Amino acid sequence: MTNNELRDLLSELSLQEKIDQLLQISGAYYYNDQNVILTGPCEDSGVKIEDARRAGSIINATSAGFAKTIQSTHMKTCSKNIPLIFMADVINGYKTILPAPIAQACSFDPSLVEAGASVAAAEASAAGVMVTFSPMVDLVNDSRWGRVMESAGEDPYLSCVMAKAMVEGYQGEDCSKPGRIASCVKHFAGYGAPMGGRDYDNCELSPLTLIEDYLPAYKAAVDAGCELVMTSYNLLNRVPTTSSRELIKDTLRESWDFNGVVISDWASIAEMITHGLCTDEREAAFAAFRAGVDIDMGTSCYSNSLAQLVESGEIKEAEIDSAVFRVLELKNKLGLFENPYKDMDEVAEQNLFLCDKHRQIARNLALESFVLLKNEGAILPLKKDQKVIHTGPFLDSQDLCSSWSLFAQKDSTVSVKQGIESHKEISEYMLYAGEEFNDEFYNCVASAEKVVLYIGEPSSMSGESRSRANLTLPDSHMQLLRNVYKLNKEIITVVFGGRPLEIQELTEKSKAVIYAWLPGTEGGNALAEMLYGDAVPSGKLSMSIPRCVGQMPLSYRRFSTGRPYNGSDYCNGYIDVLPTPLFSFGYGLSYTEFSYGPVLLSGYTVSPGLPITAQCIIKNTGFFRGTETVQLYIRDCVALVVRPIKELKGFKRITLDPGEEFTVSFSITEEMLKFYNRDYEFKAEKGEFFVFIGDSSDTENKQLFYYDDNK
Ligand code: GLC
Repeated sequence: MTNNELRDLLSELSLQEKIDQLLQISGAYYYNDQNVILTGPCEDSGVKIEDARRAGSIINATSAGFAKTIQSTHMKTCSKNIPLIFMADVINGYKTILPAPIAQACSFDPSLVEAGASVAAAEASAAGVMVTFSPMVDLVNDSRWGRVMESAGEDPYLSCVMAKAMVEGYQGEDCSKPGRIASCVKHFAGYGAPMGGRDYDNCELSPLTLIEDYLPAYKAAVDAGCELVMTSYNLLNRVPTTSSRELIKDTLRESWDFNGVVISDWASIAEMITHGLCTDEREAAFAAFRAGVDIDMGTSCYSNSLAQLVESGEIKEAEIDSAVFRVLELKNKLGLFENPYKDMDEVAEQNLFLCDKHRQIARNLALESFVLLKNEGAILPLKKDQKVIHTGPFLDSQDLCSSWSLFAQKDSTVSVKQGIESHKEISEYMLYAGEEFNDEFYNCVASAEKVVLYIGEPSSMSGESRSRANLTLPDSHMQLLRNVYKLNKEIITVVFGGRPLEIQELTEKSKAVIYAWLPGTEGGNALAEMLYGDAVPSGKLSMSIPRCVGQMPLSYRRFSTGRPYNGSDYCNGYIDVLPTPLFSFGYGLSYTEFSYGPVLLSGYTVSPGLPITAQCIIKNTGFFRGTETVQLYIRDCVALVVRPIKELKGFKRITLDPGEEFTVSFSITEEMLKFYNRDYEFKAEKGEFFVFIGDSSDTENKQLFYYDDNK
C-alpha cells in the first residue's frame, strides 16, 4: 500500500476500529490451552472476548498452522481487511536455539551474532512470527538480576555492537522480504539496573549515568533501524518508564527521530496502578498514551478507556490517528496488506527447523561463546585416546537452552553425553551421568587420568523474575566437586548458567575451567569439539565474574575514587574481599598463547578531524592456531565529569597460526573521546589520555596521548 492509501484507510476507520489496532492479546484467546505460551499474567487481563476478537496484534502464536487459522478467521470477520500482526519472544533462536545472548556477546563476533539472528528470523517467520521482541539491550552490571542472561553484559560499547548485529540479522535490508522479521528493542529504559538486582524494582540512575551508559545500546538499535521499541516494567528514578514523556516523546521520538511503534511490556500499562502512579486503568491508559505508547500489550486499559478519553477531550482523536498510523505503517512495511500470511508455511517450517545449516551456525556461536578461564599445565585439550571420565549433573542434561527458548523442541538439544558419544574420533572415555557417589564411581574417578565435571545453574534459575540474592551453584554440584577433588586433582570443570556465578572454590579445585553459559541446541557437540581440541577457545567475558555476590554491582568501568584500592587502610574496597572481579570483563584464554607488543602511536595529539593511529603487534607464541579478540580501551585522565579508569572503544578478532604475528591498528578519533559533560553536551575535553591495547580489561599495555581541541 502507498502511504496515501494507508491514510485513506485510516480515515475510513471508526474510533473503535482505531483503538482495536492498539490492543495486543495473547493467542490464548484464539486457541485452546495446550498450545498457549503465556509470558505474563493472563488471568486478570480484563480484556473482553469481543475486544480480543478485534485486537490488532497477537503475541506468541506457536506455529504456522495456528497463525494461519487465526489470520484467516480474522480476515473473514474483521472490518476494513486490516490483517493481524504476530509478535513473539524470539530471544535466542526459534527452534534451533542459539546460546543465551550474554554468551553470544562473549564471541565478540557481531557478524556471527547477526548470522544467528538471521537463522532465528528464517525459522520464526516460517512459523508466522512477524516481529520479535529482541534484542534485549539492557545494560547490566549486577548478575543477581536474572535477566542478565538476555543481555549483552556490562559494557555499553559491546552492547551497541550486539544490538546492531541482531537488528540487522532479524530485519535484513527489508523486513517484508521472505525470512525477515521486524525487530523490537527492549526494555526502554534502564531496566537492567534494579535496586538489589530485584526484577521489576526501581532503577535510580543519575541523568549522566543514564545518558552515558544505559541509553546508547537502545539508540544503536534505533539507528540500526529497529521497527519497534518496548517500554519496561521498572520505575526510572521513581517514574514508570511506560509513562515517561521524557524517555519516549523527548528522547526516543524527538532526539533520536524514531518513527516506529512503541509497545508496552506485558501489562506494564495496567501495572502503573500497582506502582501507585495511577488510581485506575483509565488513568493508566491516559498516562501511557500521553507518554507515547502506541500498543497496550496484554491488558484492557486502552480498549476500555481510550474512547472515553477522546470523548472527554483529554486525548484528541488526531493523537489516536498518529498511533494507529504507526501500527498500520508497520503492517504495511511487512507487506501484510498484500499478503496477510507473509512467510507462514508448514512445509518451510519442517525444512528450516533445526536444519543442518542452522545447527552449524548455532554450534559455531556456541564454540565462540565458551570462555576458557583457566588451563593450568595445559591440561586441555584432552587427547581422544586418553582415559577421561566425564561426569556431573549436566553431562546427560538437555537443559542447555535459556529460559526464553519458548519454542524449542526439548529433545532436539544435544547433551554433552550425546556430543561425546557421537564424536567419531574419541576412542577412550567413561561417562558417569549419575550424581550419587558410590564405590564404582570412586574407582572410576580415582583411576582416571582426568575428570571432566559438568555442573552449574539450571536454566530455570535465570531469566525473567529469576533474581537471586546468592550466586552459588547448587550445593549438590559443589559437593560432587569436593568429593571428586579428594580422589583426583586432574579436574576440568565446565560451568553452565545464565549469569556470572561464584566460582572461586570451583576454580581453585579445578586445573581448567570453561564457562559454557547456556550454549543452546548444539551445546553438547560444541563442547565435545572444544574439549578435545577440534576447536580452540576464543570467547572473552561480556560480564565480570565476581569473587562473591557482595561485590554486586560490579563493572570494570569503575572510577579511580580519591583513594584507589592499594591494600592499606583508608582505601576503596573491602576489608574481607579484594575489590576486583575473579575474572574481568574481556578476559578469556586460548589453547595457544598470544604476546602483545607495546602500543605504538602515529602521533601524540588527537584534534578535531585529525585522528592518530594506535598499533600493536600480536604474535601467536603457542602451538595451536587460535583467534584472539584484541581490545582497545581509552582513559580520559582528567575531565570536568570524572571518567572511568577504562572504557572499551573497539576490538578486533584476529586468527593466527603458531608463530604468526599481525599488527592490529585502531584509529583514535575525537569522537571516541567525547562524553556528556555537566551541561549534557557530548564533547571531548582537552588533556591527557591513555590508550590501552590488550587481551582483557585488566591490560596495562598503554601509551599516553593528548587531545587538543583548538588545533
Ligand atoms: C515479558 C517480558 C518481555 C517480553 C514480554 C512478552 O514479561 O518482560 O521481555 O517480550 O513480556 O512476552
